[in-house]
Amino acid sequence: MTDDRPILFFDSGVGGLSVVAPTRALLPAARFVYAADSAGFPYGTRSEAEIAARVPALLGRLVERYRSRLVVVACNTASTIALPAVRAALDVPVVGTVPAIRPAAALSVTRVIGVLGTDATVRQAYVDDLAARFAADCTVLRHGSAALVGMAEAALHGHAVDPAAYAAVLAGLFDQPGGERIDVIVNACTHFPLVEAALAAAAPAGVRFVDGSAGIARRIAALTAGQDWSEPEPGVAVFTRLGRAEAALAPAFAARGFARIEAL
Ligand code: DGL
Repeated sequence: MTDDRPILFFDSGVGGLSVVAPTRALLPAARFVYAADSAGFPYGTRSEAEIAARVPALLGRLVERYRSRLVVVACNTASTIALPAVRAALDVPVVGTVPAIRPAAALSVTRVIGVLGTDATVRQAYVDDLAARFAADCTVLRHGSAALVGMAEAALHGHAVDPAAYAAVLAGLFDQPGGERIDVIVNACTHFPLVEAALAAAAPAGVRFVDGSAGIARRIAALTAGQDWSEPEPGVAVFTRLGRAEAALAPAFAARGFARIEAL
């Protein structure tokens, strides 16, 4: 018997697409639903209480509506704040997205790492804990940027972004004391790998960027190993608010396998 239950990816906006891509490469037969909380976007400037209240409730509705087999919280902000509450609220496996500090520490030669995330993510104790466990001998500098989230959304809309704007974001890391020694930057927001080429072009030569998307894709593949998939069907992208801006993203989502767009 085939199983038509999809994997549900969740983010505030388009960032989760950076996790979809490597997952699709590993699981070409899988069905995906992409959910964006456009009504709650952006998460990075919200309070912990708002995110903790909003995300588990929304995911409960989404899992029921789409009968998902697995949920991917493809958002570092939601994961670092609400993962335990999401797991408690759902009866399907949940994969989270947390800053890739461990692989960054493995790569860094200078032992100075930059963590680029949202304001909400970079202030989490979860990040202190990752730094203490996996990068104890590194200086871990952090910078939260709502501007970069907006730039990634603009890029997906096909709008041109001034290269100087990427340099201005990176200055938030490199201008900190010791920042000139950073050799690895963690893209600790799922939006940021979508604009990694532009970030890298604005960064000093030799600086490397890491994120958790490939590891998350492997985890999803392991959790669904041996499961059946029904005949391939175009994916669905669902928005909590479907206005003109979201509708304008239809071509970008279609190009990534989400042919249908709907409102929650
Ligand atoms: N993509 C999200 C993350 O990984 C958050 C972007 C936002 O809504 O601020 O943190």
